[in-house]
Amino acid sequence: MSKYIYGIDFGTSNSAISILDTETNEIIKTFNDASLIYFPQQISSRSPLEYFVGKIAVEKYVESEMQGRFMKSLKKILPKSSFTETRLYGKKITAEDLVCLILKYLKSQADTYINENVTKAIFGRPVVFDLKEEKDKLAQERLLRAAQMAGFDDVNFQMEPIAAAFTYERNIKKEELVLVADLGGGTSDFTLMKLGPDKIKNPDRKNDIIGQGGIYIGGDNFDSSIMWNKGTFHFGRGLTYRDFSNIVDVPKSFYLNICSWEKMNFFDSIRMQSNLKKFLHLTGNHPRFQNLVTLIKDNLGYAIFQSIEKTKIDLSDNEQIIFEFSKNGIEIKEPISIEEFSKEIIIEDLTKIQDYLLGFLEKSKVKADEIDTVFMTGGTSMVRPIKDFMIDLFGKEAIKSGDNFNSVVNGLSYSHVLF
Ligand SMILES: Nc1ncnc2c1ncn2[C@@H]1O[C@H](COP(=O)(O)OP(=O)(O)OP(=O)(O)O)[C@@H](O)[C@H]1O
Ligand SMILES: [Mg+2]
Repeated sequence: MSKYIYGIDFGTSNSAISILDTETNEIIKTFNDASLIYFPQQISSRSPLEYFVGKIAVEKYVESEMQGRFMKSLKKILPKSSFTETRLYGKKITAEDLVCLILKYLKSQADTYINENVTKAIFGRPVVFDLKEEKDKLAQERLLRAAQMAGFDDVNFQMEPIAAAFTYERNIKKEELVLVADLGGGTSDFTLMKLGPDKIKNPDRKNDIIGQGGIYIGGDNFDSSIMWNKGTFHFGRGLTYRDFSNIVDVPKSFYLNICSWEKMNFFDSIRMQSNLKKFLHLTGNHPRFQNLVTLIKDNLGYAIFQSIEKTKIDLSDNEQIIFEFSKNGIEIKEPISIEEFSKEIIIEDLTKIQDYLLGFLEKSKVKADEIDTVFMTGGTSMVRPIKDFMIDLFGKEAIKSGDNFNSVVNGLSYSHVLF
């Protein structure tokens, strides 16, 4: 049996694998990459599907001038019972097939590094994939099947924020009551846990976990809100046309579709294009509606979301940023201040996260000032209004952070002592 085990964090935006040597209980290597898949255009359905995973998927997609299918945020389809399969160049593809491609890619990187075929892994899962129990169960079952198809035969699951807690625990000298806030692309997860240097090797930590919970709102939702508030106008939201004697708005559904990756991943752009043609005509070939036609026809969805994400990330360190997009005749230049971002654009989701956390503390019967440390991890923990709220609630001294993109995956490996 191999002395190595893997921790695997299949994330909405980023995925990672850590290799742990069980003899030393040390991580020898961690790989991470973006959770993206690109399928180049294929003529024949007989040849095997060609695909690229991670950052290289973006390069190949751009090289091909956005021909083919590009997929993002696939973790979000795991709990969707309505998603059974999609068709890619004549082949039927399930949710677990798609996830398996990312897991296989991670496994091959780690296996190559140690020159072994490791089949034992601890997988992360959010505290809540979905509020409905059967959907939550479905998501974990699909992740398990994807793991098995990728070549793992000994699979355990660990909550992502508990994993992050274990990573933080390796750096402390005394017992602490710690709130872990793992704020990612798809979910915001919390765990309240007693941690301590003497507890690390304890195989049963149930009594140390005081509370855990989460909601499926994350950084992706903020990107969607930027698109909705600052992007969709440029694609014709709010335009009207005459239907006999009535003046009606162009369908809102077009704009809901372009704000969500769950929908964009599986666009039937041919059908969409013919529908768009009809409304382009009805709006009298309005240039803003023409932008929507171009966005869909030229597959610019990923490109515009890259600009949106960059705008959001730049707002973490700046008072004002210009959201700019200039491609194939679409010209967007929208200044966004941190004030507008916090108080208008993301206010709904921000309030939901804040209210959830306050309710979580109440349910756990713990007051903010009784918590020694708040360990913040995940990319969204860098979003300024989130950080500000946490500082206001817990005090600057209590807030700590580590490696925002590796705390979960490394902690998954450290969790092996529990299984
Ligand atoms: N500097 C930054 N400021 C604000 N947001 C950021 C920053 N860096 C990354 N992000 C955002 O963080 C999110 C990704 O974080 P992370 O990699 O922790 O998520 P994930 O683990 O893939 O998702 P999940 O855990 O929800 O499945 C994205 O929404 C990304 O835009
Ligand atoms: Mg994560």
